Amino acid sequence: MTDLHVQKLEQEGFLDIEIDPSLDLFEEIEKLKKEKNAIILAHYYQESDIQDVADYIGDSLGLARKAQETTADMIVFAGVHFMAETAKILNPTKKVVLPDLKAGCSLSDSCPPSLFSKFKEKNPDHLVISYINCSAGIKALSDIICTSSNAQAIVESLPQDQKIIFAPDKNLGAYINKQTGRNMLLWNGACMVHEIFSLEKIVKLKVRHPEAQLIAHPECEEAVLQQSDYIGSTSQLLEYVAQNEASSFIVATETGILHQMIKRAPNKTFIPAPPNNACACNDCPHMKLNTLEKLYLCMKYELPELIMDEELRLKAKRPIDRMLDLSKQLGIK
Ligand code: 13P
Ligand code: SF4
Repeated sequence: MTDLHVQKLEQEGFLDIEIDPSLDLFEEIEKLKKEKNAIILAHYYQESDIQDVADYIGDSLGLARKAQETTADMIVFAGVHFMAETAKILNPTKKVVLPDLKAGCSLSDSCPPSLFSKFKEKNPDHLVISYINCSAGIKALSDIICTSSNAQAIVESLPQDQKIIFAPDKNLGAYINKQTGRNMLLWNGACMVHEIFSLEKIVKLKVRHPEAQLIAHPECEEAVLQQSDYIGSTSQLLEYVAQNEASSFIVATETGILHQMIKRAPNKTFIPAPPNNACACNDCPHMKLNTLEKLYLCMKYELPELIMDEELRLKAKRPIDRMLDLSKQLGIK
């Protein structure tokens, strides 16, 4: 790789290096894992090939825990930027690389730290709980981080009269408010993938498949959640389809999860919930920036690497540690 490539990678996370087409990337990635003592952590929304080479596939809580405990020298994070950043925050002596530095998150982008700190200043008596889908800058302004697996339990563990700001996802926040009877102050952010589901098309699908259960991620809008038979994080949805006796499910979350659902329950039918556009399924454009080719290149060249300012890392770590401790105390799997 030329100096220019390295510079481009560092600045733009851009890979335009040609890969020998005769290479079996699955084999090459396995070789690189051993050679470099690397671990591949992948989110359920990654494309199937990436999930198949991963050492661990999980939801945001599982991935954070795995990143914290790994003894590998290099963490290859197949997910989006805030996830790789969380891995670095928790395990700073490891090299953390990700296939595409531009893999961001619309939800995280909907909450800029400069605006959020003003919002926080206006409500000084509130505790700040932030969903892990946010930047390190927002984490540093938060008291406790949560994920979709533990948000409800964490809120419930606090005194009923505790004033709370919940950021950045208004849909997850509203869902937790409803479940717990709280009145948390919500930041007005949302995920572009979960907001785009069409209630009208889902209702029509339910009519065509009366036997199918509708299952949804809590980042979906309230109208979709109201129609759902089950609401949960990605790992909870996966567990549900494996355990539940229904044979068919309409799945209102990002389509990547279907790969593991089919593996866990090969005889069941999974129908992606349709979005409000011409597509039949719903992919996260950020998650899907990662490809097997970019994963291979990032392992080979150990770039792009996630680098963090140490002061920010330490500030962002406190609320994540609090989440991990609370999750342990509350027995969250
Ligand atoms: P979980 O996998 O933690 O449910 O989060 C979903 C998500 O939107 C990740 O970006
Ligand atoms: Fe962000 Fe939504 Fe994509 Fe998850 S699915 S990474 S919340 S944009």
